Amino acid sequence: MILETTDFLSRELRYTKKAGNVGWESPSNLAIVKYWGKYGNQLPCNPSLSITLDQAKTKTTIDYQYDPSRAGLDLEFYFENRENDAFEKRIRKYLLSIVDYFPFISHSRLIINSENSFPHSSGIASSASSMSALALCLSSIEKTLDPSSFSDDHSFFCKASFVARLGSGSACRSIYPHFALWGKSDHFYDSSDLFAKEFNAFHRVFDGLRNDILIVSKKEKSVSSSAGHSLMETNPYRSTRFDQARSRIGLLQEILNKGEVWDFGAMLESEALTLHALMMASDPSYILMEPNTISVLKAIREFRLDTKIPVFFSLDAGPNVHIISFETDRPKVTGMLESIAKYAHQNIILEDRIGAGPKEITR
Ligand code: DP6
Repeated sequence: MILETTDFLSRELRYTKKAGNVGWESPSNLAIVKYWGKYGNQLPCNPSLSITLDQAKTKTTIDYQYDPSRAGLDLEFYFENRENDAFEKRIRKYLLSIVDYFPFISHSRLIINSENSFPHSSGIASSASSMSALALCLSSIEKTLDPSSFSDDHSFFCKASFVARLGSGSACRSIYPHFALWGKSDHFYDSSDLFAKEFNAFHRVFDGLRNDILIVSKKEKSVSSSAGHSLMETNPYRSTRFDQARSRIGLLQEILNKGEVWDFGAMLESEALTLHALMMASDPSYILMEPNTISVLKAIREFRLDTKIPVFFSLDAGPNVHIISFETDRPKVTGMLESIAKYAHQNIILEDRIGAGPKEITR
């Protein structure tokens, strides 16, 4: 069944007064084929496919008091156990923007606590993990208030992904284990721009996928992701890029399916460099890589050429480098990582790997 936006609207309120708490731990993700350019209300100009991470995650809990006679949202937000006005404002705006999907929001007192597993201001974008954790918590509240609101797990995660997308596009992919696909693609009949779905037809070689993150800089980006997406509207390579990404999704499906590690790495690196080339070709142009980013990319390519070990890089919209390798090569790769730690801010390399997706927290 192909779902439409209206399928996610909630039925009229008819829950009874209730209080409780819910919690989810949700990971970040790394796109292989990147989402870069959007239209309408947070819809992607091309499909993307990502690796769900394991260690880089956000833990969010919500204590809720729902009372149908309450008018308006009463919100308290704590980030890493402290009040955070800037985050609270953003979260309030987001919550009020999704009341059609979760009407209980406008009749509730919500106390939200959120914390990241990765170091504060490490330069890792936390929007994917935080918005997915929040969307899962909200879906859990709806399920508690009205147990018949979801017919099965699939509809629960589908709505969580839909709502996470409205907070941050890439967040909709974090809902699923291992690999996730977001965006309409001719290669997947039930794919949609509205939410992501799990991609599980992958070769077992990818079970051992490692993703170490070398933090080059933890400075705030000079151009935010949303500004970057907007600049794609006038990018001269726009349509070529969207066509390329669409056809790469089909190729990647096969690569993952057959376990073609070298083709996987070639696409991963090309996507990372293409993303940054698009930034450089924007008007106005901008550069998010730092000199140390380039040094790391070169070191990885040299190591690969010398050793024939499949180690690859990827980049998000920032200077930090994701280093992709496989468990079986770990001892040799560890030596290489030690040798490039000098390019990292305070020698920080965060170890991570492909992960099993979000986990519900029971208190
Ligand atoms: C380069 O999901 O952060 O990481 O939808 O505006 O929140 P918003 O953007 P965001 O963009 C992510 C861009 C990317 C590529 C990707 O994750 O696919």
